Amino acid sequence: MRVGLVGVGRIGVLHAENLRELPQVEQLVVADADPGRARAIAEKLGLRAADSVDDLLASKPDGIVIAAATPAHTELVTKAAAAKIATFCEKPLAPTVEGTKDVIKLADDAGIKLQLGFQRRFDPGYQQARERVQSGELGFLHTIVATTMDQAPPHADYIPTSGGIFRDCAVHDFDIVRWTTGREIVEVYATGANKGADFFKQAGDVDTGQVLVTLDDGTLGTIAVTRYNGAGYDVRLEAHGEKGMVAVGLDDRAPLRSTEAEALWPAGPAYQTFSERFAIAYAEELKAFVDLIANGGEPKATARDALEALYLAEAAEKSRKERRPVRVEEVRV
Ligand SMILES: NC(=O)c1ccc[n+]([C@@H]2O[C@H](COP(=O)([O-])OP(=O)(O)OC[C@H]3O[C@@H](n4cnc5c(N)ncnc54)[C@H](O)[C@@H]3O)[C@@H](O)[C@H]2O)c1
Repeated sequence: MRVGLVGVGRIGVLHAENLRELPQVEQLVVADADPGRARAIAEKLGLRAADSVDDLLASKPDGIVIAAATPAHTELVTKAAAAKIATFCEKPLAPTVEGTKDVIKLADDAGIKLQLGFQRRFDPGYQQARERVQSGELGFLHTIVATTMDQAPPHADYIPTSGGIFRDCAVHDFDIVRWTTGREIVEVYATGANKGADFFKQAGDVDTGQVLVTLDDGTLGTIAVTRYNGAGYDVRLEAHGEKGMVAVGLDDRAPLRSTEAEALWPAGPAYQTFSERFAIAYAEELKAFVDLIANGGEPKATARDALEALYLAEAAEKSRKERRPVRVEEVRV
């Protein structure tokens, strides 16, 4: 099959490397708003580059992977839907709830397959946690602890259009808490802090945030996110229940330092980037997308999942700004 990839920045290059390894992908064509960048990446990886995104779409690939900067997603999915091309899109589909609903309707009306880039659903650790939580092995759940800590901030230009730390970063935790537990988050209480670069504050954003979440069965959870975690890229989840617990992300590369066993564990080196921590998951999500194009079925991460996660991020942002707990129903329209 022929696959197009739009956007060859940090994550687009990673997707290109993974896609070119898949035997079903006979041709991979990349495009970027910066055609020089697309050409350079294509040359480096032995791929073809389209002169423009429109040229790429007009060539009607079997599937399109959207890894362009966030503000471009809505227009790109809209164009892919109009051309009836199966689409994989990095989050978010749109910056607003209304925009997201519009995109979902367009994709539904066009009848295209639309998979979202919630790669944690493809990570073996999260998959096992989900099975064990939902099998009842842990008894009733009482506490979820989710962590997403970037080792260092993205470039300053990324922040003003990112949607803020809850829409850009915690959105993965909102999604994975829903997916792991099979429950819905009904209330959030969020706060944030600025101790790093000024560009976060200037964009109305925070560089560190925390969200206290309540699930529909009464389980409580915390989600901790930051752009500054010198120890490494730290993404973990703990699910604690009446009869047991499971922890995701406690491998030898976990960026943790034990005061009791520093010399023993973890052996390191600590994960530094999302591409190292989720190497398997990023490869698996694209394998699943290619399989979706070839064989049909339902995506494991849908556009509606993106909408649900966005509602939670919206509620968290509202909670942070208004300094009060927010029921998710308040932002559901
Ligand atoms: N799932 C994940 O773990 C994860 C991780 C990182 C980024 N992302 C998402 O991936 C997207 C890209 O992030 P990044 O960190 O790679 O950003 P980046 O800034 O490194 O790269 C973005 C690329 O998109 C290109 N671009 C911008 N507008 C375009 C347009 N209209 N058409 C074509 N190309 C366009 C830019 O020229 C650049 O090459 C973001 O939406 C981000 O939310 C997801």
